[in-house]
Amino acid sequence: MERIQLTEDLSFSRIIHGLWRLGEWELTPAERLDLIEQCLELGITTFDHADIYGGYTCEGLFGEALALKPELRERMQIITKTGIKLTGDFHPGQKLNYYDTSKEHILESVDRSLKELGTDYIDTLLIHRPDPLMDPNEVAEAFVELKESGKVRTFGVSNHTPAQQSLLQSRLPFMLVTNQLELSPVELKHFEDGSVDLCHENEMPLMAWSPLAGGALFKDAELSPLRDKLEEVGKEIGARDIDEVAYAWLLKHPARIMPIVGSGKIERIESAVRSTKLELSREQWFEILKASRGRDVD
Ligand SMILES: NC(=O)c1ccc[n+]([C@@H]2O[C@H](COP(=O)([O-])OP(=O)(O)OC[C@H]3O[C@@H](n4cnc5c(N)ncnc54)[C@H](OP(=O)(O)O)[C@@H]3O)[C@@H](O)[C@H]2O)c1
Repeated sequence: MERIQLTEDLSFSRIIHGLWRLGEWELTPAERLDLIEQCLELGITTFDHADIYGGYTCEGLFGEALALKPELRERMQIITKTGIKLTGDFHPGQKLNYYDTSKEHILESVDRSLKELGTDYIDTLLIHRPDPLMDPNEVAEAFVELKESGKVRTFGVSNHTPAQQSLLQSRLPFMLVTNQLELSPVELKHFEDGSVDLCHENEMPLMAWSPLAGGALFKDAELSPLRDKLEEVGKEIGARDIDEVAYAWLLKHPARIMPIVGSGKIERIESAVRSTKLELSREQWFEILKASRGRDVD
């Protein structure tokens, strides 16, 4: 599996495994460990978490599995996120969901993530959503402290516009390493709003969340022209299913997009890996773009 270099001493696997839905998969700790090991065998060494996934439970489920074979930690890269505070048992009395990128919250949430994951370092910490009340100086202070303590190796953002990303970058003594965005043949806006371009300009690889539109690609009626086109192109390039074509469409982009696979089913994870061998022509790429937008290029 191809690797994408983020810094001199940190690389991610081209395909990343996402753990947002881990709690829904109803796996025993041994089955969770088995899934992690199968990913590693396929060359998927990078795992995407967030403190809030599964109502603050997914990091712990992963950590519980990892504890069965702690030596695997050195073979993987762990990404997690901070900056959202959800209501519920975890925050009794909190009236609504809100964002919190204060230094205090970032430090607290990283300590909790480390404990839940059962690790003493996080490879990449992302600010999950742009916080309108973000004080970039305060975030920078938190990041510098986390880096100096060895708790976090590198930092990035998620769902940030180019201006929001640049604002935070302007206060940091080191480079952000990625922006994790919703990117797929269904969700095209970040290809057009400068988000992908800014990362490309800075030679910063991007992560694509919901690369299959969260499963909508397979069922939404209005996506049937896109589905048909993915099937047609799939036949031309030897793909087994449309998911492979959707991943291949993202992989063709020169900005070095790393799709995050959201399924816990090994055969679907294998499809993502197979997609790295597929090659779309420029014409096929534009055919898929056209089927998604419903119109030709101008
Ligand atoms: N930064 C952010 O704000 C953000 C937001 C959302 C997600 N994420 C990250 O991105 C990761 C991936 O997101 P995602 O889970 O939405 O990814 P996705 O791959 O677009 O969607 C996964 C969903 O599609 C279904 N699916 C996959 N292949 C299928 C097939 N061949 N036929 C029918 N259904 C199929 C899966 O069902 P099965 O489970 O049954 O396979 C699952 O429900 C998450 O785990 C998380 O790490 C980040």
